[in-house]
Amino acid sequence: MIIDVNIDLAEEILKLKKQKNAVILAHYYQMGEIQDIADFIGDSLQLAQQAQKTTADIILFSGVHFMAETAKILNPNKKVIVPDLNAGCSLADSCPAEDFSQLRKKYPNAIVISYINCTAEVKALSDIICTSSNAVKIVESIPKEQPIIFAPDKNLGKYIIKKTGREMILWNGACEVHEKFSLQKMIELKVQHPDAFLIAHPECEEDVLNYADFIGSTSALLNYVKSSSEKKFIVATETGILHQMQKYCPEKMFIPAPPNNTCACNECPYMKLNTFEKIYLALKSESPEIIMNKNLIEKAKKALLKMLDLSK
Ligand code: 13P
Ligand code: SF4
Repeated sequence: MIIDVNIDLAEEILKLKKQKNAVILAHYYQMGEIQDIADFIGDSLQLAQQAQKTTADIILFSGVHFMAETAKILNPNKKVIVPDLNAGCSLADSCPAEDFSQLRKKYPNAIVISYINCTAEVKALSDIICTSSNAVKIVESIPKEQPIIFAPDKNLGKYIIKKTGREMILWNGACEVHEKFSLQKMIELKVQHPDAFLIAHPECEEDVLNYADFIGSTSALLNYVKSSSEKKFIVATETGILHQMQKYCPEKMFIPAPPNNTCACNECPYMKLNTFEKIYLALKSESPEIIMNKNLIEKAKKALLKMLDLSK
């Protein structure tokens, strides 16, 4: 579909949203202009919680596939649409359900905790879901003698092991964006900005996390910079979060942590597939839509609801 160059896209999106009783949920990694028209911006947990309580008829999810799938699992009778169906996630892709079910079989007594960044099929094979905001709390809710399989992010898994002292069997998956941060470049950046605080997402590798002054989910990082008396931050997560940081704290300085290539900042190529134009087209045509098998929804929902109940 060709978009008339004379229309005001933001205005049209707002009109369509009202006409169709649609809600736009956007992750912090979306482009600033998308965050600015969203009804709700948040991290993975907050977005799942919003999806659970929305009264809208249509949910437009501007994030990646597993997030929209989560919204559909929680709202099987609502229409969930996305700007681009190709917006996947390297971390979710690193854990194919068939391989994962083999690991499950190997440890029949283990409780399976899966990070929300996984497919619905992997959620269906899990006992409980977690996000980076509540992973420590979820792991600590499991009785001490109970073996745990944690999937798919080995970096978040190692971080939780360190925080809780709990041994866990880890799936060997990772996020290609967070693994790309270069510790060497961060050290060089710290030499240039000795007064800067390094804040990092727990999907980063262990060496970066060991060097960080604060570790947390995207919402935890945002809250940290808002309440901190520090004035300068090196931010080791996807750069989309800087939009809200700068909005809330215009007087503070945020430096994106550099990846191990020639780029100055680190963007998630999947999150960045979503554009303003695609949001407009998706709302207009009510597609592409997330379509899921009812049986799969029911199986995946159990683990998801356990997490949402524990996060109240
Ligand atoms: P949070 O939204 O839990 O901070 O996770 C970040 C992420 O990588 C989402 O894909
Ligand atoms: Fe997936 Fe990493 Fe992108 Fe998050 S940043 S959506 S974990 S690829």
